[in-house]
Amino acid sequence: MDRIRIVGGNRLNGTIPISGAKNAALPLMIASLLTNETLTLDNVPRLADVAMLKRILGNHGVDCMVLGKRSGQNGMQGESIELRAGDIVDTTAPYDLVARMRASFWVIGPLLARMGEAKVSLPGGCAIGTRPVDLFIEALKTLGADIDIEAGYVFARAPKGLRGARIVFPKVTVGATHVAMMSAALAKGETVIENAAREPEIADLAACLVKMGARISGAGTSTIHIEGVDRLAAARHAVMPDRIEAGTYAMAVAMTGGDVLLEGATAANLEKPIEVLTQVGAEITATNRGLRVTRNGNGLAPVDVTTEPFPGFATDLQAQLMALVSRAEGTSHIRETIFENRFMHVQELARLGADIHLDGQVATITGVGKLTGAQVMATDLRASVSLIIAGLAAEGETIVNRVYHLDRGFERIEDKLGACGAAIERLSG
Ligand code: UD1
Repeated sequence: MDRIRIVGGNRLNGTIPISGAKNAALPLMIASLLTNETLTLDNVPRLADVAMLKRILGNHGVDCMVLGKRSGQNGMQGESIELRAGDIVDTTAPYDLVARMRASFWVIGPLLARMGEAKVSLPGGCAIGTRPVDLFIEALKTLGADIDIEAGYVFARAPKGLRGARIVFPKVTVGATHVAMMSAALAKGETVIENAAREPEIADLAACLVKMGARISGAGTSTIHIEGVDRLAAARHAVMPDRIEAGTYAMAVAMTGGDVLLEGATAANLEKPIEVLTQVGAEITATNRGLRVTRNGNGLAPVDVTTEPFPGFATDLQAQLMALVSRAEGTSHIRETIFENRFMHVQELARLGADIHLDGQVATITGVGKLTGAQVMATDLRASVSLIIAGLAAEGETIVNRVYHLDRGFERIEDKLGACGAAIERLSG
């Protein structure tokens, strides 16, 4: 298993290209199931989760072709892939594939909408809480599906097709909003989704579906209107930049000090993290090439932050912020409200010398003068990158074990940080 070795203490200076967003690429790839024509996606990040989803879609009969390099492109740019679900040969998504990545459960919507049936294993993914699927099931039932849960599988049937309806989510959920929107795109009649997730990735999926011929308005707000159509067609769409990756590198620069351009990042999707980082002591300015992050080397200020659905502070940046304020001059509080078990990085950060006290869903972080390198273990995707951020500022050598979690969501992190002056390398095997 690969490990990452970091020797802390270097400032970051240079340019980091921001990849396409994992959390947009996955639903966009899944949307290919909705049509028998070709969906071409550009700026797809090279990530383990993307590779995994290619396998899952392939099992349903989707041909996936990665386009070759084009003139003017370099290795830091994402892939262009063509996905063609000409014939869906299998409407079952088996346990051994779905258990590895929660988002693969989302195929249930397009399969059901297009084929009238789907049998999908209950999901796995990061161990950050129980993450049930009740809200997906309620939404699909509202659209007219019959659902049974048996032997770890969800069986969904709608032999006469789905019909438009009013779906009111009792709680904001990104995944179930994606699934409801994709399913309703091919349902008969009008669907209104209320209390929809407002994450920018929802709007990115909607933009692609509209290019495919769907009739959707309001995506990105909490009320989405969808007028079902009979069929969707070929389209080409570029995956939006990864706001979580951008926020993560912004925190890394805030941690080490320096001056880095996050190429391709946009302030519009990062308002809350920018507000928090500015409070902590970073300076962030929008340029026509991306976001420039600097810190002059003065001490870091503590913050009080609560994770919330977008546009609030993202739970996917919580671990990274905790690593950052572990070096602040004073006491910070971070309340996690999205997932009940998303503090697994706390004990690993403590191994590096962080002083963190957990009380239920609230972490109290008392800033320490220095962190010291140690062996640590990555436990989930965002937790693992928080250990990298801490390692960049720790004295001496930090070894992050089990980096496969990192490879699920961060493209070439050691290359991107290394190019800006970090002493970081991957140790294979
Ligand atoms: C997505 C993101 C993930 C991010 C999360 C919250 C992707 C691929 N993943 O995950 O990176 O951390 O949004 O921003 O985009 N819930 C239920 N019942 C359900 C569905 C969800 O109770 O049927 C709960 C979850 O347990 C959680 C909350 O709703 O407590 C939010 O989850 P959700 O927004 O659905 O997260 P994901 O879509 O899995």
